[in-house]
Amino acid sequence: MDGLAKAWTLPDGGGRSVFSGISGHVKRQQKIAVVGVNGAGKSTFLKVLAGQTEATAGSLKIGVNVSIGYFSQHAMELLAPEKTVFATVQEAIPQASIGTVRNLCAAFLFQNDEVDKRIANLSGGEKSRVVLATLLARPLNLLILDEPTNHLDIQSREILLDALQKFTGTVLLVSHDRHFLRGLVQRVFEIDHGEMRVYEGDYRYYLRKSEELRNSASA
Ligand SMILES: Nc1ncnc2c1ncn2[C@@H]1O[C@H](COP(=O)(O)OP(=O)(O)OP(=O)(O)O)[C@@H](O)[C@H]1O
Ligand SMILES: [Mg+2]
Repeated sequence: MDGLAKAWTLPDGGGRSVFSGISGHVKRQQKIAVVGVNGAGKSTFLKVLAGQTEATAGSLKIGVNVSIGYFSQHAMELLAPEKTVFATVQEAIPQASIGTVRNLCAAFLFQNDEVDKRIANLSGGEKSRVVLATLLARPLNLLILDEPTNHLDIQSREILLDALQKFTGTVLLVSHDRHFLRGLVQRVFEIDHGEMRVYEGDYRYYLRKSEELRNSASA
């Protein structure tokens, strides 16, 4: 990322700058939390990285063999409502055997005939689990996840945490779940007043350092 900036165009034709001057590298296999207060621009930043929206300035270079999976609450709305859980997961991995698809469904807590439920009849948490199962099934090596734990209960969160810990690719993640962040990330990107601060350490390191920064600012 080099001098990355994003301003949304408003209905009156004006612009609302969310961030600017974001530069840095994300290396292979890094697991990174993107943090900041509500409205700081975390989702906007992830959308730019995932190619869901264009940056207004600067450049973004994605490595040649990178295949990106993107999760947002919006992703659940893109599931075909008439399809079953089984058919939806199978579609993500068409080469896989029935047993493999069933195992993956079971790993995300769809046991036995629960895989025959239709998407339209699922709860928010169940829909999230379907989307996450399809993301983790596919041969992706960069996961960009915007609040993936929002609708998940504790057991499902643990399953996702475990899957992401074992995931050998790169992860950029927004989550308000501290337990999740503590267990996963080695770097933290904080978006604050339109700028990005990088913490070269895990979530505990980020909490300590950001508090030190606040204290020294107010001293
Ligand atoms: N599609 C859009 N069009 C116009 N403005 C937008 C759009 N999406 C987001 N914004 C604005 O950009 C700013 C940053 O929003 P964003 O959703 O990126 O924040 P966030 O850090 O993800 O917040 P939250 O923690 O609440 O999810 C907000 O002021 C928001 O209103
Ligand atoms: Mg957001």
